[in-house]
Amino acid sequence: MTTDAFGSKSSDDRASDERSAYDKRSLATLAADLPSDDRGLAYGEGVFETILVREGQPQLWSWHEARLTRGCQRLGIAAPSSAELAGCLAVCQGEGLEVLKLIVTGGSGGRGYRAPESPETRLRARATPFAVNQQARRGITARVCELRVAEQPALAGLKHLNRLENVLARREWSDMAISEGLLLNAQGELIEATSMNLAWYRDGRWFTPCLDRAGVEGTLLAALEAEMTFERVREGLESLAWAEQVVVMNSVQGVWPLRTLLKADGAILAEWKDEAHPALDELNHTVARLLGEPAN
Ligand SMILES: Cc1ncc(COP(=O)(O)O)c(C=O)c1O
Repeated sequence: MTTDAFGSKSSDDRASDERSAYDKRSLATLAADLPSDDRGLAYGEGVFETILVREGQPQLWSWHEARLTRGCQRLGIAAPSSAELAGCLAVCQGEGLEVLKLIVTGGSGGRGYRAPESPETRLRARATPFAVNQQARRGITARVCELRVAEQPALAGLKHLNRLENVLARREWSDMAISEGLLLNAQGELIEATSMNLAWYRDGRWFTPCLDRAGVEGTLLAALEAEMTFERVREGLESLAWAEQVVVMNSVQGVWPLRTLLKADGAILAEWKDEAHPALDELNHTVARLLGEPAN
């Protein structure tokens, strides 16, 4: 399903359709607490998505659905149907900007790590109001995290529920002036940011790290890659120092350009003063369209 699947109706019509299709009992189930024997809680067995919803319209929906479904398949748990996922929109108010969080877990049962014969996955959905961080859109300070991410090709790319590396990395700083932390692997290769993908521009080309051994394959990055080329590379921090522009991005926040990159000890590693860069303008333009932002 794509956003367009909802496009022919007003958001009010669609929201009320979804609400009538999803009775109160279903909504209560989507909001219910997880039992303590849930395998998502016990082992992180599951996947999640955070989706930007604009006036009731989910953005990049088909990309989120595809990643969630792929993640369930990779973990061996049943993926919710398209209809079940679409029904989750009923938890949204349908006005302004919201973030819809979907969680799918492996359910209860099994014995220890051994999965149940016929697992019953659980689907949960929650919506919260959201506001674009306009200041970060103009440029941020980021730092390099000390934590090194592990390589695990079996899980690489998925937005699975085991996010302890990201949690530990995000604990490394509390300075509000620092908006993101860059994550490297043990070889010192760039992977991503704590909650965003990473890309940089040099000599007319965009680059982004290979995510086949670690990291999350972002839906915004995937949608962008369908329209323009990002060369996937295994490179270290030195590539950023030479870059004309460095950005972090995700499907909720959009693109944040880096203006200052700090080492973990706070020393300046690199700075980018050039706020107006044609490649960044073009990227911002494309992202604004992909995230359904009204044209200025
Ligand atoms: C670790 C990590 N990498 C990348 C992303 C970007 O993913 P998406 O573009 O689907 O939001 C996220 C999103 O939250 C993330 O948590």
